[in-house]
Amino acid sequence: MKKVTKIKKGLLIVFEGIDGSGKSTQVNLLSRKLQKKGQEVIVLREPTSGKWGEKIRKLARIKGSISPEEELQLFLKDRKENISLNIAPALKSGKIVILDRYYYSTLAYQGARGISLEKIRHRHHKFLIKPDIAFILDVPAGLGLRRIKDRPVIYHLFEDKNYLKRVRKIFLSLNDPEVVVLDGRQPAKDISREVWLILKKKFPLIFSF
Ligand code: ADP
Ligand code: TYD
Repeated sequence: MKKVTKIKKGLLIVFEGIDGSGKSTQVNLLSRKLQKKGQEVIVLREPTSGKWGEKIRKLARIKGSISPEEELQLFLKDRKENISLNIAPALKSGKIVILDRYYYSTLAYQGARGISLEKIRHRHHKFLIKPDIAFILDVPAGLGLRRIKDRPVIYHLFEDKNYLKRVRKIFLSLNDPEVVVLDGRQPAKDISREVWLILKKKFPLIFSF
């Protein structure tokens, strides 16, 4: 049997991008691939299904229901809880955590509602665990919206073309060293292959199967 390299300190991998950019698809492809190789993987998403996440989803269905600052506060509470309850313990026990959206979404979406990126970063300062790598799947706003047009839940607050154009622009402006921008217009299989090659190059000991 092939030997599986277990990691000591865990690994935090994030997928980001506008709605319909293909995040969930890539999260699923990567987690299945890793599980097949015998790695312990935990898949999480934000907003979470906890109390703050559910509150956000409810409010986001109504346009103009909350101010940008109230929105920011809810995402911060949800993230803080996700880190302490789920992310930190999983990393501590050496698992690979794959996260569908994280604080880059707050920078991009709440930034696009007018809050300064500096302020958003500052509000995360005390509790954020920086990911090892964050993939941003880049697609034009129109394509993202076309891909999700049949989705049952509509977030009136977020799924607006002009707004998503601003969100995309902020995603593309992030120059954090862990951020890798990928062309999300490619076929899902090709993106998945690219993700794997990048992970292999960056974390050779873990992805050397
Ligand atoms: P997100 O999680 O970013 O909102 P999803 O992964 O749910 O996006 O994908 C949205 C829709 O687009 C789904 O119907 C999915 O099958 C499709 N999709 C995902 N990735 C691609 C891709 N690379 N090319 C074409 N369609 C895609
Ligand atoms: P989404 O990933 O679409 O949730 P669901 O799993 O319910 O489909 O996220 C809901 C919306 O929340 C999405 O349009 C982006 C927005 N969002 C923010 O505005 N800020 C954030 O920090 C996060 C995590 C999400």
